[in-house]
Amino acid sequence: MRCYSHGYSLLAGAHHRSFSSAITSKYPHTLEILSEQYSTDEITNVTPAILSKIPLRIHTQTGHPLSTLRSIIESHYPDFSHISSFSPLVTPFKNFDELSFPKDHPGRSVTDSYYINKELMLRTHTSAHEVEVFSKGEDKWLLTADVYRRDEIDGSHYPVFHQMEGARLYNADASGMEEVKEDNERLSRHLETSNIVIQDIPHISPTNPVQQTHDPVHSELIAKNLKLSLNSLLLRLFGGSKSEEPLRVRWIEAYFPFTSPSFEVEVFFRGKWLEILGCGVVRQSTLDTSNVQGKIGWAFGLGLERIAMILYSIPDIRLFWSTDKRFLSQFKAGEIKMFKPYSKYPSCFKDVSFWNPQGSVPLHDNDFCDLVREIAGDLVEDVKVIDSFVHPKTNRSSSCYRINYRSMDRSLSNEEVNELQKSVITRLTDVFRVEIR
Ligand code: DAH
Repeated sequence: MRCYSHGYSLLAGAHHRSFSSAITSKYPHTLEILSEQYSTDEITNVTPAILSKIPLRIHTQTGHPLSTLRSIIESHYPDFSHISSFSPLVTPFKNFDELSFPKDHPGRSVTDSYYINKELMLRTHTSAHEVEVFSKGEDKWLLTADVYRRDEIDGSHYPVFHQMEGARLYNADASGMEEVKEDNERLSRHLETSNIVIQDIPHISPTNPVQQTHDPVHSELIAKNLKLSLNSLLLRLFGGSKSEEPLRVRWIEAYFPFTSPSFEVEVFFRGKWLEILGCGVVRQSTLDTSNVQGKIGWAFGLGLERIAMILYSIPDIRLFWSTDKRFLSQFKAGEIKMFKPYSKYPSCFKDVSFWNPQGSVPLHDNDFCDLVREIAGDLVEDVKVIDSFVHPKTNRSSSCYRINYRSMDRSLSNEEVNELQKSVITRLTDVFRVEIR
């Protein structure tokens, strides 16, 4: 999953991230989203392709694999509130500041996130609703939602995906801690008799510290409760029968601006370690902002597509958006079964090389990918940078991208792909003023 962990911030230097407008094409003065009008401004960068996904809410469509997975996770937490109705339009304040993200966090940039205007963006993670839900006095809750991030195009990345946020608060006093201990004992007993091997790390360490305002004993107990609760969820999701190989789970130290200590969890599946979720002990400042007093607790955020792709053997993330009967008719509500691919249609590769305009920042990969999606939608399977260099004399930079056109439902004709490629080139020159080589 794409996490706001330290791995994510490490990418910061790899790309140019600008705060100026990403796509300079002309936007209408207002955009209609979920029947409301919103004004655009110089940072608007949502595309029609993205806006068209907002009303779909596939995580609530009965029988859809994402909806089934959501219900299974919800049934694992029966006494939690289950929320899935929040609008994806949030303020940057809610998405970032309320959760203590630093002002220069790369996730804020227009190259990484979708903005309606300066005041409104599409949420990039379900954590954006933590304060709102905690403020309502909810102590145990799960929230499922569509989230939006500008990204590359390949089989496991899509600019809209789904996350599930879970949180649990306890009273930060002796009786609350008694409750945590009891829950820990119950969960430990359950896990001891299960076919699961867990690689653990300390709940708290110098590099993954307890928060200043927390009693270290309380924080330890809460972190342990978080781990036990999630191990038991993963066992429910991935654990096979006793006769099979044990489920292997590993815990890794992480960093998130809104938790400490923080962790990531990986599951060993078909020969690979896969990152499944991020979590941690909720920052007390988040609870203070929510007007919650005398409590301590944990939260997690998991990526539904990642888990569903593993459980259902779904090979390409675009399939979740398919309305093809051959996809949808394979699934029944509440049931997880292997997806049978109906066909693999041929790929058609097209390259485009260009000079970036003299004296300006080179086109960002995410701008290129949004432009391609705008034109070809789900007919594009992946986009790769195959070359980029700076001319030693003129100092002009050049980029070359390879687009892989492939439909999931049918064969594409040569003419059709050529038309698409022609439109990509026209848009590149019109909007980004590049010079095709
Ligand atoms: N929101 C984080 C992301 O998208 C994941 C996450 C990490 C959620 C830690 C949490 C948490 O609730 O406690 O990368």
